[in-house]
Amino acid sequence: MKVLVTRKVFPESIEALQKRFEVVTNPDDAPWSPDQIAERLAGCSAAMSTVLCKFDEAVFARNPQLKVVSNIAVGYNNIDVASATRRGIRVTNTPGVLDDTTADLTWSLLMAAARRIAEADAYVRRGDWKVAFGMHSFLGVDIHHATLGIIGMGRIGQAIARRALGFDMRVLYHNRTALPAGDEKRLNAVRVERDELLARADFVVVMVPYSQATHHLIGAAELAKMKPGAILVNTARGGVVDDAALAQALKDKRIAGAGLDVFEGEPKLNAAYLGLPNVVLTPHIGSATRATRLRMCETAIANLTAVLDGRTPPNLVNKELA
Ligand code: GLV
Repeated sequence: MKVLVTRKVFPESIEALQKRFEVVTNPDDAPWSPDQIAERLAGCSAAMSTVLCKFDEAVFARNPQLKVVSNIAVGYNNIDVASATRRGIRVTNTPGVLDDTTADLTWSLLMAAARRIAEADAYVRRGDWKVAFGMHSFLGVDIHHATLGIIGMGRIGQAIARRALGFDMRVLYHNRTALPAGDEKRLNAVRVERDELLARADFVVVMVPYSQATHHLIGAAELAKMKPGAILVNTARGGVVDDAALAQALKDKRIAGAGLDVFEGEPKLNAAYLGLPNVVLTPHIGSATRATRLRMCETAIANLTAVLDGRTPPNLVNKELA
């Protein structure tokens, strides 16, 4: 059986696949269009893909032999799951293995934005640091004892909340379902409506999957409800935050700052961000440690292998096909 791996992965992951399958790779690591994916999938029973490789209705229609799309990611908004389900194609993802690493990056951005790390680093590198210790130099905002608001309290949201305990923070969260009372107590977390969270939090973190329902979940109206000194962090998906509205709010100093790892239309990003000192930008690296990315590949291989062996994969997205 043939497996298409749509982007470059680790050699050990390819070797693991090659023990069982013929493997078609993307040695140039070029991001393929849906049309290119459809073409290269010819004769393949499985695809192993990453977050920006689009699998739409046309890709599936041209590849009736396809049995599984195994996304090397927890999110899967790059895949038309409804269309895959109609055609009996399994979709799988890699939850769990990246929770802590993504929570770490979320905190990196939160802290960098709060303490203006990127701005200060650029200042030192430019040679602008001429006078030692300025009393008013790079004043930031306190993280300790502040209020952290988390929108989306799934596994990653909870991993972010766990880290807040070390900073003696209050945690507010907004989620469809409440955590069990014991977990709320352990995390010192209180469930509130979204507007209350926006009004009270010093740091707002969004950690929801992207869908029609979460498109521009944070837009001009929501930014207007945040505290003037607040900081917004998005390590979830581009499109959950309205980038044009956020860039304007940062320019107007409506909020103090932002830390962003994901963007609408990435790798292109709203040009306004580039000129703003109060936003820290990273290129979708939430899960980017070698150990975690390897585990994500191993999980994706286990999912794909299970489907091709006729078993239910451990992380099936379209549960109707279990
Ligand atoms: C990365 O963005 C993921 O969904 O795993």
